[in-house]
Amino acid sequence: MKIVGISGSPTKSGNNERIIDYVLDIAKQRGFITVRIFLSEYKIAGCNDCGLCKDKKECSIKDDMKKLLPLLEDADAIIVASPVYFGSVSSQLKAFFDRTLVLRKAGFLLKNKVGAAVAVGGSRNGGQEKTIEAIHAWMNIHGMIVVGDGSHFGGIVQKPFEEDNIGIRTVKDTIYKVCDVLDMIK
Ligand SMILES: Cc1cc2nc3c(=O)[nH]c(=O)nc-3n(C[C@H](O)[C@H](O)[C@H](O)COP(=O)(O)O)c2cc1C
Repeated sequence: MKIVGISGSPTKSGNNERIIDYVLDIAKQRGFITVRIFLSEYKIAGCNDCGLCKDKKECSIKDDMKKLLPLLEDADAIIVASPVYFGSVSSQLKAFFDRTLVLRKAGFLLKNKVGAAVAVGGSRNGGQEKTIEAIHAWMNIHGMIVVGDGSHFGGIVQKPFEEDNIGIRTVKDTIYKVCDVLDMIK
């Protein structure tokens, strides 16, 4: 089974990308195939509500999203990490989320994939839970099976990730939960 990890940060080699590598390493050790998507490597414009995807599985905006949609369709689980920007997800991640409308219109193609979230802030209480809530909203609106870290909402991290021992625990518990649920579904 395949787990896709998405970093919503524009910062190359930043905390979110390091966290995605960290969780995918754990998933690999558990025997899963892993795929990573770092939004810092792609150009993705926002949805313009042109309506084309209402009638056919096609997007009028020709950019990197075309390469990423099949990776999502192919996933059994998706774990998303976002920086907290003014208490919510990055604009890069929001553009990516909105552009997945085509998968919903084409028949809820992300339905029943397992989903989990991690949020990284500069502050201890900088809006990580609200950011996770925004990621969970995307997952729920796609009909995904949303999981947390087993006791709360997901990975809650203050940067730098490697120095936040409490945060690392929540990140580990979140990927363990994703792997456990996939093992139950198998
Ligand atoms: C535009 C902007 C807004 C931010 N807003 C918040 C915030 O509301 N709360 C917070 O804790 N950190 C905030 N930060 C800090 C980022 O969350 C932090 O730098 C980021 O998670 C680091 O991840 P990265 O290394 O992957 O980029 C903000 C940073 C930027 C650039």
